[in-house]
Amino acid sequence: MKKRILVVNGGGDCPGLNAVIRAIVKRASQENNWEIVGSIEAYNGVLNEPMELKILDEKTVSGIHVKGGTIIKTTNIGGPLAWPIKEKDGSWSFVDRSDELIRKLQYHNFEAVISIGGDGSHKISQVLYEKGCNIVAVPKTIDNDLLATDYTFGFQTAVEIATDAIDKLVTTAESHNRLIILEVMGRDTGWIALHSAIAGGAEICLIPEIPYDLDIIIEKINSRISMGRGFAIIVIAEGAKQKDGILTGKKSETIGYENFRLGGVAITLQEELKKKGVEAQIRTTTLGHLQRGGIPNAFDRILATQFGVKAFEMVLDKKYGEMVAYRHPNIVSVPIKEAIAKYHLVEPQSDMIKTAKGIGICMGDE
Ligand code: F6P
Repeated sequence: MKKRILVVNGGGDCPGLNAVIRAIVKRASQENNWEIVGSIEAYNGVLNEPMELKILDEKTVSGIHVKGGTIIKTTNIGGPLAWPIKEKDGSWSFVDRSDELIRKLQYHNFEAVISIGGDGSHKISQVLYEKGCNIVAVPKTIDNDLLATDYTFGFQTAVEIATDAIDKLVTTAESHNRLIILEVMGRDTGWIALHSAIAGGAEICLIPEIPYDLDIIIEKINSRISMGRGFAIIVIAEGAKQKDGILTGKKSETIGYENFRLGGVAITLQEELKKKGVEAQIRTTTLGHLQRGGIPNAFDRILATQFGVKAFEMVLDKKYGEMVAYRHPNIVSVPIKEAIAKYHLVEPQSDMIKTAKGIGICMGDE
């Protein structure tokens, strides 16, 4: 009988997921007797009745490394630890189905699980591992907020998309002498904002790790205008806020969706600047899910492929409870616990911030 590996991806999608899946299947095909099976929509494919599983063979994965999204679908709603159940009175409660999940995996002869996900998914991976599940983790997210790896795959593609947006906004901002505020994703971190602001040559970059001071931003705008440059590009991360300010967004009404839905901070900043008397015309652009869609760039395809090959080899070596990680120039394995201990934040004293400030980008703090 073939040895089976369940491949599951959870949380938001991200460019490179298909490249990981393809690499796992291709590497497994070089060994005898392995069957790779995908669970449709995270663990729902195993927990739903009837189960929704997809056999992943070389034919199924042929050429998918260039495609965005994921051929096994994903979700960031619910999950095995907090499965939403509608009660008779219409209210919702949440049950822990992790024991049932593990029993089902054993019953269906799964030797191991390769879970591709971000911080939320790997908190689940750690619990499953502690309950005896043979699990290997792969770090994905455009936010780059997982510790223990230099980069997650998907991040570089998102940075490229944001940089391309800045390049386009510069020409229209310059033609009209406008301030254009570009809102990018990143949740509680400013990685996408910081990298794209440097690559695109933005004048101001605001990130969650450095709460901003409006007067400092206005000073920067005025000094630029007095230098004879009548326009400026401000890149703002969705989780940025003023000193003593609050996040812009709303609580989701979707049952089982736990994250606070960030969004709208570009408009918040526009209003703040107008209230403070900034006279220049201001326009806003929110990139949103464009940053997660489309084809992964070459860097992410390569990183995702390295992660997929290594993840399969970690199963061969029984390195369970570990996550594949990129530590330049190596692909290594680290305890999942290390990766989820806290968020990977931009360090305000880091060289990347020094670089940004060194070319005159205002980070909103000085
Ligand atoms: O974590 C990835 C991410 O794209 C964040 O940058 C963003 O805040 C969030 O997911 C959006 O989630 P959703 O797809 O549920 O709108």
